[in-house]
Amino acid sequence: MRLDWLDTAGVELALLRLDLVDEQVSGNKWFKLAPYLRQAADLGLRGLISLGGAHSNHLHALAAAGARFGFETVGLLRGLEQDTPTVRDLRAFGMHLHWLGYAGYRERHAPGFWAPWQERYPHLLPVDEGGGGLPGAQGCAGLVGQLRVQLAALGWDDYHQLWVAAGSGTTLAGLVIGENGAHEVVGAMAVPSGHGVEGQIPRLLHAAGRANAGYRLIDASRGGFARLDAQLARFMAGFQADSGVPLEPLYTGKLLLALHDDVQAGRVPRGSRIVAVHSGGLQGVRALQTRLDELFRLCRMG
Ligand SMILES: Cc1ncc(COP(=O)(O)O)c(C=O)c1O
Repeated sequence: MRLDWLDTAGVELALLRLDLVDEQVSGNKWFKLAPYLRQAADLGLRGLISLGGAHSNHLHALAAAGARFGFETVGLLRGLEQDTPTVRDLRAFGMHLHWLGYAGYRERHAPGFWAPWQERYPHLLPVDEGGGGLPGAQGCAGLVGQLRVQLAALGWDDYHQLWVAAGSGTTLAGLVIGENGAHEVVGAMAVPSGHGVEGQIPRLLHAAGRANAGYRLIDASRGGFARLDAQLARFMAGFQADSGVPLEPLYTGKLLLALHDDVQAGRVPRGSRIVAVHSGGLQGVRALQTRLDELFRLCRMG
């Protein structure tokens, strides 16, 4: 990336463009899903059943993969039936949808939640919200090797920090496993502190037989998951115009703004080389673009 705020601070940034892996099975999603697909195939199952909201990047990628590779997908959705661009795509991809309501969705971590669904769909593998869990994290561990082989093309022999957005923390846990202490992983939380990420990462690392070390978390949520503001809209517009890289506001926009703020505050040492993961999710922009444009107009007027 060639950006003024990086040059001024003497910091170099490279993006791992997982948004370019596939237009539909985009970002970190394929890496989280692949181990579950392998598990389903080993068990002789015919597909996957999973959970998410009406804008879920995870369900979108799962449904797209099901359509592409010919396996069955069922989505359990939060809330009451809604018509969103994502939901339209899920249907078009052939995913079978059930709307759980809000109270029903809150039960998703309760013991026994899956039992009735497994009875109804015994031929499908249940996968937690967002493709979370140890298999999902292990699927992301391999990303570290994939990024290392690309360093030479940048003329880099190494890097100092690896930045990634954290929702459930599964991708971050995978990167910590893959790094095995070689580089610090910085997780920019898309959800405010106290919503479970801080507990989930040590659990995943423990399950993987790793120490709870090699990473730190920062709150990049800007007051709430999916909360948008004028500063974020302005930063994203500038970043996209200067770099040509598309962002979405909930994860990658907030990740890069948090990095920008750390760099400008002098918390990233001059001479640092940073890799940030572009975790995709661009399909979600469709439902947010009007709000982003509005915020951007407001901040230009102000
Ligand atoms: C685009 C995007 N980036 C990052 C994340 C965070 O991933 P994780 O839940 O593994 O922390 C998500 C979450 O699903 C996402 O959709």
